[in-house]
Amino acid sequence: MYTLNSRIRDIYAHPLGHDMLDRILYAAGVPRTLLKNPIVGSMRLSWLETIASGKLDTTFFQSFIDLLNMHPEKPGRGDGPVKHAWWKEAVFYQIYPRSFCDSDGDGIGDLKGILSKLDYLKSLGVDALWLSPVYDSPNDDNGYDIRDYEKIMAEFGTMEDFEELLAGVHERGMRLIMDLVVNHTSDEHPWFQEGLHDPTSKYRGYYFFRNPDQTNNWTSFFSGPAWNTYEEQNVSALHLFSKKQMDFNWDNPDVRDDVIGMVNRWLDRGVDGFRMDVINYISKVPGLPEGSEGIAELIGFKGIEHYFYGPKLHEYLHEIHERAFAPHNAFSVGECPGVGLMTGRLVTGEERKELDMIFSFDHLDVPGHVRYDDYAFDLRYYRDYITDWMENYGNNCWMSLFYNNHDNPRMSSKVRPDGSYIRRVQKLLLVMQMTLKGTPFLFQGDEMGLANYSFTSMDEITDVEAHGYHKELLEKGKTPEEAFSIILSGTREHARVPLPWNRESMKESVLQMTPAERAEKHITAFLDQKESEEIRTACRRLIALRKEYSTLIYGDFHRLMGRGYEESGYGFAYERRSDEAVFRVECNLGEKTIPAYRSKENGRWHLVYGTLRNRKAEELGPFEARIWKKEQ
Ligand code: NOJ
Repeated sequence: MYTLNSRIRDIYAHPLGHDMLDRILYAAGVPRTLLKNPIVGSMRLSWLETIASGKLDTTFFQSFIDLLNMHPEKPGRGDGPVKHAWWKEAVFYQIYPRSFCDSDGDGIGDLKGILSKLDYLKSLGVDALWLSPVYDSPNDDNGYDIRDYEKIMAEFGTMEDFEELLAGVHERGMRLIMDLVVNHTSDEHPWFQEGLHDPTSKYRGYYFFRNPDQTNNWTSFFSGPAWNTYEEQNVSALHLFSKKQMDFNWDNPDVRDDVIGMVNRWLDRGVDGFRMDVINYISKVPGLPEGSEGIAELIGFKGIEHYFYGPKLHEYLHEIHERAFAPHNAFSVGECPGVGLMTGRLVTGEERKELDMIFSFDHLDVPGHVRYDDYAFDLRYYRDYITDWMENYGNNCWMSLFYNNHDNPRMSSKVRPDGSYIRRVQKLLLVMQMTLKGTPFLFQGDEMGLANYSFTSMDEITDVEAHGYHKELLEKGKTPEEAFSIILSGTREHARVPLPWNRESMKESVLQMTPAERAEKHITAFLDQKESEEIRTACRRLIALRKEYSTLIYGDFHRLMGRGYEESGYGFAYERRSDEAVFRVECNLGEKTIPAYRSKENGRWHLVYGTLRNRKAEELGPFEARIWKKEQ
């Protein structure tokens, strides 16, 4: 049993203790190597207050300890050989349907638009598509608020269009995974409506309904309280996201039966798996206790310690796996914010039969920063973060590799907010993504070199999160200019602008409610055909290389140190090794020229890819990367 008197070292040895301590230090902007210091290790848990500047309160420490005691599991051994699987070898491509490709000129992307680009995606070397939600939805959160799980959103097409798309994907030897949004439904879902209007209905127990004076202090990810009150019915309901995204009560077995039934029907239709939206939030601590003020100050959201790794998370993931995924041999990748390396090993350990992979997010901002901060991302943090995962995730687990998705500004713009060297950074990211150990997930437009968009006012932004946060900032006393500049740094809208397929299609395909000038600006800002073609070519070549050598998929990872390539330097060099081949990747993560890692004494190396042409072998220019293959 862990208690408030337990020592940091013992807590750090617990998988959840490890990840929570890492997370707290990350939020406080303190390097987590501190936790390996023996003096720190011998301190009691409450010592954390010092690094969190006194923000952590008793409620936090108590719930921390309770969580540890609730989760006695240890990850399985990860030292056997890696098992082969199609999803480890595949390159995935995420499509955000609303802005991917519009086939009928109504300004909204659609399924037929996606169908028309399948040959293009195939020619890039993409093996599998992840479709962000395409189900019927009132679009408060662009489809992440589902009204009917078994119907296609009318703006995107029909079920026949979907079937044609799925067949088209399969005909080309590709696979398709859907988005599974089952932490919550839309408030317009008939189950919620029935539960709201009829207290005796079985659906009342599908959600968290409470008397308005018996809610808790949790906050929503989209600003404000996590409870919406329905005056007429005199009842409140829990929503971790928008007021129209109502949280399911997963402790109710009928919810699980209905969700799993729906998953099985989609798998029966032939889809190859699911990306599971905020799936680590599905189990909430019974009674929904008050959230810690300290954690809220540190992490930004109140109550999160009671659901980011809830007591029944493993049980529910295992249940979905056994009752739906396993019988269909389907693939799962869980979106798991806050799940770290060790808890990640618990949810993805192959012997545990829960998830195949996760998306975790602590590599997208450097410690002490959050998405809405205006700062330049230092790639050395990514290097050290990813090395830790590469070295410690274990062969029984498998990583996803991504920099972009529909919820984040583009990584290349975060690294180079002023836009300088941005093409080089994009190619460097692609080199790492295709040569590190894990499954690459490209996000639409990565292959075109899309960067952040220069929005000029809130009118050009549709995202519910950005509007909620903007309002909150104004309420906190920011001027409209200050508030807009914060939104501009972190808004998800950067990733949601329509893809610039060509000048004509851009004019047509503007997100709904967006001024027409936006399309024009987007064209001039990003449709430099030559540059975009250069990134596409790099993408194609790197994917092809990854497919040619299984070493780049299954080979061991070894970070190379020395020669200025250790923590403080900007160099990142690593090898991927197997019996088939040895590859050496050398990267310059900064804007100053550095010596190349390559050395003659280690045998003969052949350059298979370089991001810059005609460069001196002995040095790496700003953000340059090269891949060498050892001659056997
Ligand atoms: C994560 C999704 O990626 C995001 O777009 C959405 O707003 C929330 N989950 C809520 O579904």
